[in-house]
Amino acid sequence: MENTKTVVIGVTGGIAAYKALDVISRLRKENVCVHVIMTKSALEFVNPISFQTLSQNMVIHDMFEEPRAWEIQHIALAKKADLLLVVPTTANIIGKVANGIADDMLTTTIMATVAPVIFAPAMNVNMYNNKIVQDNIKKLEDYGYDFIYPTSGRLACGDIGQGKLAGAEEIVEIIMSKLYPIKDMLGTRVLVTAGPTIAPIDPVRFITNRSTGKMGYAIAREAIDRGAIVTLISGPCHEKVPFGAKVIRINTNEEMRAAVINNYEDTDIVISAAAVADYKPKCYSSSKIKKSENELNIEFVRDNDILKELGLSKKKQILVGFAAESNDLLQNAKAKLLKKNLDYIVANDISKADVGFGADDNKVIILSKDNSPIALDKMGKKQVARELFSLINKKR
Ligand SMILES: Cc1cc2nc3c(=O)[nH]c(=O)nc-3n(C[C@H](O)[C@H](O)[C@H](O)COP(=O)(O)O)c2cc1C
Repeated sequence: MENTKTVVIGVTGGIAAYKALDVISRLRKENVCVHVIMTKSALEFVNPISFQTLSQNMVIHDMFEEPRAWEIQHIALAKKADLLLVVPTTANIIGKVANGIADDMLTTTIMATVAPVIFAPAMNVNMYNNKIVQDNIKKLEDYGYDFIYPTSGRLACGDIGQGKLAGAEEIVEIIMSKLYPIKDMLGTRVLVTAGPTIAPIDPVRFITNRSTGKMGYAIAREAIDRGAIVTLISGPCHEKVPFGAKVIRINTNEEMRAAVINNYEDTDIVISAAAVADYKPKCYSSSKIKKSENELNIEFVRDNDILKELGLSKKKQILVGFAAESNDLLQNAKAKLLKKNLDYIVANDISKADVGFGADDNKVIILSKDNSPIALDKMGKKQVARELFSLINKKR
């Protein structure tokens, strides 16, 4: 497990203050230590107890409060921070920092830290476009401060335009890549499969599975963060495309097979996280099957075993499979590793509701041919991806 990093979160007095809770919750899942500083105005929007509970640390808001320990709080936090994130950021804080004002715990800590500071603004569109605010943003950027810009959309005040806080997922992704800027895969070609496949029955019906693509997309993101050249072959899912990935969309097992085989030769690492259908209907009905009073029996036949095929024709590639099992996890995963000539297999127990399919977290055991299984704690899927690549890259 990598060393725990500390992020100091500044929460300011905007309507989006409650959204900082989601950011903190996600950072905690990534094993990041979080300390929260709230401005006086922020206290009007969200009760500090929520931040205290999620961060598992006392929330600081009063600079002149009786100290709890013999350390000067704003200096202590400024030193402790590996990164300082202000979420949401008001026009007021931008203006204060840009002009050297340090009149509360947050602005003083920002002034006292040498850690990177990132602002995630959220405000009314006219406020955001105000020339003074824009000039202050430009000034802060010139000083080396980073911004996660607001997106456009319907704002809390009813106006439509730029000013909406960036999504928690995106914010956390940016923070994690700043905290752990590992670039140990520069130039490595990685092929990732993700999501489900579908097997059509007739023009309107198909069978599929519960895969959401979250794990595969997290793997693609992590590989990109580490500098890899990533091709993501994705079944139908709603995950946001990782910036920088070449994405090939497929629906069926056959389409997945064609895309994977086409890209296999040039690939260094293949991570097969997609839940590819093992069976398909024996006969596809080109016209819609009409409803009748009778029962409907559909015969299924085996579809391509793509991973086995890759294992058989493997040359230089490192091949990683996933085993989603509801029983005899280790036994079944080990058998799959050997049968398909894989280098690693990531086994997860899908019988638990809070991990695996569709969940944000996963609890996996990584098996390899020559090493004993590595059981990871329950963690966010991006962190599972990070642990997996750390293991693979150590032995490459
Ligand atoms: C209901 C309400 C919502 C507000 N929302 C925002 C906002 O989204 N963004 C912003 O910059 N200011 C917003 N403000 C104004 C700030 O609260 C005000 O500028 C305050 O002084 C900010 O203090 P702080 O920057 O120290 O937290 C809002 C004010 C109120 C009363």
